[in-house]
Amino acid sequence: AGTTQPYRTAYHFQPLKNWMNDPNGPLYYKGVYHLFYQYNPYSAIWGNMTWGHSISNDLVNWVHLEHALNPIEPYELGGCFSGSITMLPGGRPVIFYTGADTNNFQSQNLAFPKDPSDPLLREWVKSPHNPVITAEDDIEPSDFRDPTTAWQAVDGTWQVLIGGKIDGRGMAYLYQSNDFINWTRSEKIFHSSVKTGMWECPDFYPVSINGKDGVDNYLEKGNTKFVLKASFLDHDHYILGYYKAERNGFQVEATDFMEANTDWRYDYGGKFYASKTFFDGGKKRRILWAWIMEADSRANDIKKGWSGLQSIPRVVWLSASGNQLMQWPVEEIESLRKDEVEIKDKELEKGSLVEVVGITAAQADVEISFELPNLEDAEQMEPSWTDPQLLCAQKNAAVEGRLGPFGLLVLASSNLTEETAIFFRVFKNHSRHIVLLCNDLSRSSLSRDVRKTTFGAFLDINPLQESISLRTLIDHSIVESFGGGGKACITARVYPVLAVDKEAKLFAFNKGSHNIKILKLNAWSMKEAKILPIMKRRKPP
Ligand code: FRU
Repeated sequence: AGTTQPYRTAYHFQPLKNWMNDPNGPLYYKGVYHLFYQYNPYSAIWGNMTWGHSISNDLVNWVHLEHALNPIEPYELGGCFSGSITMLPGGRPVIFYTGADTNNFQSQNLAFPKDPSDPLLREWVKSPHNPVITAEDDIEPSDFRDPTTAWQAVDGTWQVLIGGKIDGRGMAYLYQSNDFINWTRSEKIFHSSVKTGMWECPDFYPVSINGKDGVDNYLEKGNTKFVLKASFLDHDHYILGYYKAERNGFQVEATDFMEANTDWRYDYGGKFYASKTFFDGGKKRRILWAWIMEADSRANDIKKGWSGLQSIPRVVWLSASGNQLMQWPVEEIESLRKDEVEIKDKELEKGSLVEVVGITAAQADVEISFELPNLEDAEQMEPSWTDPQLLCAQKNAAVEGRLGPFGLLVLASSNLTEETAIFFRVFKNHSRHIVLLCNDLSRSSLSRDVRKTTFGAFLDINPLQESISLRTLIDHSIVESFGGGGKACITARVYPVLAVDKEAKLFAFNKGSHNIKILKLNAWSMKEAKILPIMKRRKPP
């Protein structure tokens, strides 16, 4: 960041310039983290899809390597689209990716490392068998893409999912192979849903039903559930279920995509998309990456010369209740914290605003928890308030209530002309309490070009038994919020005109009609991560 580039981030992954979208083939290999990503080497808008490639020891500091896949073969002249990495027996990684030809006919292709003994996996060689899967007649060839990481069934056959759509119905096809080269489509569609449209970037993986540890074994019986994620209608949605490897069957546990109030999303903001998980064998955890797109005009993207970020990598695991996923930024990101400020047991009076001073508020990590003494006074929930986003827009940060709005104002200018509010409201529904988490962007920027949609999510916590907590990562033009220890996340892009760099401020606020208490607030300045190009090899003298 800096005055000429106020929106560039300090600790989120981004290339030096140009366009980036989906994370591809994330991997932990011989002690090194790899991130590949959809990249346009020539401009700040989508096109010329190439697999960018970067490596890291800690998921925080990165080195950009040479591109892993360039679109040069006939089957991929329209782009090397998204895909995943699978570890073959013996520990050899393979990239499974989509090639789009000049007619945008999509096929599935393989690439192997030239030298698997190189932990950096710098060079990739496309298989002479490409394309290994092409769209059969009943498949729409321009809606057939994004292979998952493959896994093996009990009898050893490989299984992979590919996103698709027939007659408006989004789905994942299942393909099977004995040798990873010859693939046949299973007669049974793995899963489909009528309310979704095309599924992009499906992801399918096991999670443990007891504890936070990641699981990599698709055949482990008894103590796992499965997550099926699909990207559609601007969001990453997931459902939980069970997988019967013998019957190639995924059985949904509760309700399907887009049903009732179990429409689970990784993130309830509007810019978190096309995510992918991987199993980190080093720390035995499952990690989630996602593309965080811009919310500014295309003209401004071109002017600033870049577009797109990756989320802070998040650990994902199943909640103790087993009905939803939890997410939390990887612990490594805490190595960037400095200048800690702590506030404890502080009354946050009704109508008050407390500035958090002593940190770089445009580049910060904040954790805050609240205690509400008068829970019985919560406002009554109306039965029609089923859509949390709508509720947050109607009862925005300016609307005074009883228990709430209270929370944080981030990237705020000194006179609050600009402010991004992340806040809670607590309602009562008979004897239960309902906690709403909102991110109000309506006053986030004086610019007329940027989208300032307000976001919201219900948070499945019981405030009678636990405090209400929030963690927010602020990085110049991105704000990632984690409510209730990771039960609901909201990521937003913010483009302040005034609240830039040293002008940005951070506050805690309470606009409810009751005094509440800040149990604990910890805030840190964040150091800059090193995200640099690899040093050129010196020529021998
Ligand atoms: C998702 C997506 C994928 C595709 C890629 C192309 O953002 O549309 O479906 O493979 O981006 O860049």
